[in-house]
Formats: sequence, C-alpha cells, structure tokens
Amino acid sequence: MAKIIDGKAVSQKIKEEVRAEIERDGLKVGLAVVIVGNNQASRVYVNNKKKACEACGIQSYEYALPEETTEKELRDLVRTLNDDPNVNGILVQLPLPKHITEKKIIKTISPKKDVDAFHAENVGRIVIGNYAFLPCTPAGVMELIHSTGTDVEGKECVVIGRSNIVGKPMAMLLLHENATVTICHSHTKNLAEVCRRADILVSAVGKADFVTADMVKEGAVVIDVGMNRNAENKLCGDVKFDEVEPKASYITPVPGGVGPMTIAMLMKNTLMAKRLQSK
Ligand code: GUN
Repeated sequence: MAKIIDGKAVSQKIKEEVRAEIERDGLKVGLAVVIVGNNQASRVYVNNKKKACEACGIQSYEYALPEETTEKELRDLVRTLNDDPNVNGILVQLPLPKHITEKKIIKTISPKKDVDAFHAENVGRIVIGNYAFLPCTPAGVMELIHSTGTDVEGKECVVIGRSNIVGKPMAMLLLHENATVTICHSHTKNLAEVCRRADILVSAVGKADFVTADMVKEGAVVIDVGMNRNAENKLCGDVKFDEVEPKASYITPVPGGVGPMTIAMLMKNTLMAKRLQSK
C-alpha cells in the first residue's frame, strides 16, 4: 500500500512561508493574471490563483479579456504591465485563443516578471542551472518528491510527456539533482518496459487511465501531473490510481496532489520577482 502524498498540506506550508516573509519584511507584492476568452478550466485555475494571492498577502490584478482580443491588444497590455511598478509578476493563462500566437505573447513578457518561467531566457537559465524562477509545476513536483524523504541522486527517473510547460523542465530539475532521466513521448517504443525501470515515475500526458499497473515498478514513487475528466466527467489524473497505488511506495492523488503545488510555487516565484526587482 502506497503512502498518499498530500499536495494540499505541502502547498499550504509553502503559502504560509510566503505570507510570513511578506509580512515580516512589510513587502508590497503584486501579480497580474491575464485570461483571454471563455475556457472553463482556465477560469477555475485563474480563480484559484487569485485566492492563493489573497491567502499570501499578494495583490492580484485580474485582466479578463474577450475571446476576440487581438494579438496586438494582448501584447500592448503585457507591455503596460511590464512597465507597471505595482506588478511584480505577469501570468498569461494558457491556452490562448487560436488566433493569438502564444510564443509571441510569452516573448513579450519581461523575463524579470515571468513568474511561469516560460520565456526563452528563463528556460535557457534553467537548462544551464543559473535560474531565478523555477517553472511552477515541475518545481512543485520536486517539492512533493522531497516531502517523501526520497533522495533523487542516482535514481532512475522516467518522465512521460515532453511539453515545454512540464515534461522538458521536469527532466531538467531531476537532472540538476543528479538523477538518471528518461523522457518518454508518443513515439517511445516499449513504453511500459521503459516506465518499469523508474524509481520515480512522473506522468504529464493528459490522458485518463494512461498509466497502468504493468508500467510501474514495485516500490516506485508515482507523481501524477495529469488533470483530466473521465467518462463520468469526474476530475482524474493520468494514473489508474486503484491498480497502481498498491504497487507504489508513494503516490499523488488527483485532485489534491500536484495541482495545489503549481499555485504555491507561483506565489513563491511572485515573491522572488519582487526581490529581484528591488535589487
Ligand atoms: N495553463 C496550464 N498550466 C499553466 C501554467 O502553469 N501557467 C499558465 N500561464 N497557463 C497554464
């Protein structure tokens, strides 16, 4: 039987630390959250981010723009936020409507305010190990792994998924802690066999029931980054929890695992942005 990793509890502790630091130093910290269009899931995420800001003593500024917002209008807003001294962090919720090129918007965000760490400058800094911001979801996963007392050094780690937001930076953070890292994706041959090598298995695929018991080594730490809806429209991860849980030593639930951590790390990055800008 696996121990369930309590992402809510770990994230709560991080948010309390952020709040305590802001109060102790009497800081005024602001996060601009930009959402374009009517994506329901994005709406929920943005509301949760705003609530976390409140809990941490961070001022949030919401910009909810209509679906038909042009790329130019959005870039102009980002430039205005870049120049606004009350705004320490800028978060543009993805995905954006199809007529807006995400890459162009991310490029417009000042790297010093890029609390998602999506800008190419920040991605490059992560690769060479000279970073200020860590990407929120992978950084949250590292915190959860650390919370189990597992030492990553020398471990076989398998990441399923190679997105810019999760898979690729996740592999980098594991590598920084001296893990042996394999990234799997839709072209990987013998996926189950590769995954079975993992002492630490991180799934970021976005498909319900993707990770089955035959893909998991006995005693592995299993981290589920997926956020999907199953046939009954219930929130679920990538991992077939009921059959994988008995084999794992530790496992994250969905909801209540990685999700709350992403937001806690965003709060930490926003405080870090304030510190960077005050130097
Ligand atoms: N959409 C899904 N995850 C994220 C995230 O971490 N940041 C932003 N900006 N958009 C997202």
